[in-house]
Amino acid sequence: MHVPTGRVDTMGVAERLRKLVRPDEGVIHASVYSDPEIYQLELSRIFARSWLLLCPDSQIPNAGDYFVSYMGEDPVIVVRQQDGTIAAFLNQCRHRGGALCRGESGNTKNFICTYHGWTYDTSGTLTSVPFEEVVYKAPLNRAKWSARRVPRLEVHHGLVFGCWDEDAPGFRESLGEAAVYFDLNFGRTEGGLATYGGVYKWRVKANWKLAAEQFTTDDFHFLTSHSSALTALTPEDAPPFSIVRGRVFTSSKGHGGGFLMERDSFATALATTTGQAASNYMMEVELPTVEQRYGEAMANATPTFANFFPSTGYLHANRTLRSWIPRGPDEMEIWAWTLFDRGSPDELMEERAKITAMTFGPAGIFEQDDTANWVDVQRPLGGAIARRTKLNMQMGEPTSFEGWPGMTGFDSSEFPARNFYSRWLQLLSTPNHALEASPTDDEECSHVR
Ligand code: FES
Ligand code: FE
Repeated sequence: MHVPTGRVDTMGVAERLRKLVRPDEGVIHASVYSDPEIYQLELSRIFARSWLLLCPDSQIPNAGDYFVSYMGEDPVIVVRQQDGTIAAFLNQCRHRGGALCRGESGNTKNFICTYHGWTYDTSGTLTSVPFEEVVYKAPLNRAKWSARRVPRLEVHHGLVFGCWDEDAPGFRESLGEAAVYFDLNFGRTEGGLATYGGVYKWRVKANWKLAAEQFTTDDFHFLTSHSSALTALTPEDAPPFSIVRGRVFTSSKGHGGGFLMERDSFATALATTTGQAASNYMMEVELPTVEQRYGEAMANATPTFANFFPSTGYLHANRTLRSWIPRGPDEMEIWAWTLFDRGSPDELMEERAKITAMTFGPAGIFEQDDTANWVDVQRPLGGAIARRTKLNMQMGEPTSFEGWPGMTGFDSSEFPARNFYSRWLQLLSTPNHALEASPTDDEECSHVR
């Protein structure tokens, strides 16, 4: 596929993309995982205008705490301000483009670019320039030459989300019918979520969408991909695993995920795989709170996997929160935090964090299975024939369940992933005027501080 640089031929692009991705037929062309021009469009038309996870707010509890994150390939610094609010700005000096911060996290009063020493405060405002009165003919306009602020930030259930698009709907509106499922994953108890320990980061030679679509839709891989890990974790006298008929959801905005519907058997499984303390906490603390907040029917539904479009993944049972960070068409970086309800007992968090590392850490026994699959899908796409192959995404059709908003159905189903690609197609076919109108127009757009 050829996408011209500069002004994008939007009609032509949309037409060509619709041939490659046909959600209504459940057909997807393998090149969407490897085409460099599609990748560039994703950066400007999806990552530069969607709500993206920046970090849990517990990562920056005190004034001056900072965490360097990514929005697509754009590095941003997220900082707790003196008044307790949060600011985020591009980690790019406005002088010659150096990094304002080389660290990954910490506490500071200001950011001094290591190249020539321009200095910015914790909100990204330019505060001083070395020898300014000697080397410039007039004082620099501080407002004009401050770091580029992320104009939209919102915190939900302890998670910080940012968006570059000032005209985008708010975060909850962007969830559409998936808002309740977002709450059932992340807002189970009153205090929201906090991270235990830091963040795991690792790279995988696979396109970011392979992880995102799996977390949106795919319970079907579980018994095949993870059979060895399941055997290792399951007592010999336990009944064999078989396909479980849970439920999946999706919304018009491309979000998706799954639930198990039998909480008692889930509690038993949790006791087996993550210890009795985790199971007791779930039955005695978590579920009564969920029931109170969302009603009995929803308390019986235990979230298993989810992806909030485009790139925020979560496995509630394993407490692993993911950001799929694109690193080119054929590589992603996975950032993973271990999350707990704020106020959980220390012993419980410690014990479960170990299990999370063992199962879904960078070397986790389940993580390795998933990673191997994504790499296996990606590797052949260097080939001229493999990248021209159509792939099948036709499994499952929606079914209505009373009281469940959005589009729902039984797992295993791939209609949530088909919805993911409908949203992907819609965004990729719509120009991001702030970036594409002309090569210089974004300099004038109002989010430039
Ligand atoms: Fe930052 Fe020169 S590039 S001070
Ligand atoms: Fe898996």
